[in-house]
Amino acid sequence: MTTDPFTLATPLIAPSVLSADFAKLGPEIVEVLAGGGDFLHLDVMDGHFVPNISFGPPIIKAVRRSTTAFLDAHLMISDPVRYARAMVEAGVDGLSFHAEVVPDVAAAASQIRSAGCRRVGIVVNPATPAEAVFPALDHVDYVLVMSVVPGFSGQKFMPEVLGKAATIKRRLRADQRLEMDGGVNADTARACRDAGTDWFVVASAIFDKPDRAAATAAIRGRLGG
Ligand code: DX5
Ligand code: ZN
Repeated sequence: MTTDPFTLATPLIAPSVLSADFAKLGPEIVEVLAGGGDFLHLDVMDGHFVPNISFGPPIIKAVRRSTTAFLDAHLMISDPVRYARAMVEAGVDGLSFHAEVVPDVAAAASQIRSAGCRRVGIVVNPATPAEAVFPALDHVDYVLVMSVVPGFSGQKFMPEVLGKAATIKRRLRADQRLEMDGGVNADTARACRDAGTDWFVVASAIFDKPDRAAATAAIRGRLGG
C-alpha cells in the first residue's frame, strides 16, 4: 500500500534516483527506502526544457514494480500537460510541473489533475519569482522550490532561494507542502527547514555515499524532527 506523504508528519526526505546506479535501479531503490527515505523523487528530463535527458514512462513503470512507495515525479519537460496521463499510467502518485513552461499555471494544474493525478505540484526555478506560483495555489498540493538550476544532480545549493521559499510557505495552507530540491545535504538542510521546507529531495548526498542509511540519518539529524 502506498503511504500518502501528506498524511505523515514533516520533515520528510525523498531520495532522488537521478544519482542511483541505473544498472541496478531496483535494489538501489529498496536500499534507500529501507535506509530511511520516506518516498521517491523521479526526475524526468526531456533535453529541451533542461539540457539533460533522464528517463520516462518505461523506467517509471519498472520503478513502480520495485516499490509501493509514493512516487513524486518532477517533470523537467516543456509540455507537462501532454505527458501527464502517461506518467499516471506508468504509476506516479504526484506530478510537479514547472511554472516557466505553461501559459496558465492554474489551468495546467487542473488539467494534470484531470489526467488522473492524485497530487499535483508546481515548481519554480531559482530565477523565477514567488509570484509565479501564486495563481496556482488553490489548485496544487505542493510547491517545489529549485535550489539549483535544474538538469543535473550534484550541484551546489543556492542559498538565495531561501527567502522565496519562506515567502511561498507563508501562503500555503496547512494541508499543502513545500519541497526543496537541489544541493540539499547535511550542511544545507537546516537552512531549508528554517525557511519552511517540509520535503527534502536528495540525490547525491545519499546515493554518492557508501552508507546511504547513515547519510540519510545525518540529514534527518539536522532537521530536528
Ligand atoms: C535537478 C533535479 C534534482 C536532483 C538533485 O535537476 O531536479 O532532483 O536530482 O540532486 P542533488 O541532491 O545531488 O542536488
Ligand atoms: Zn528534482
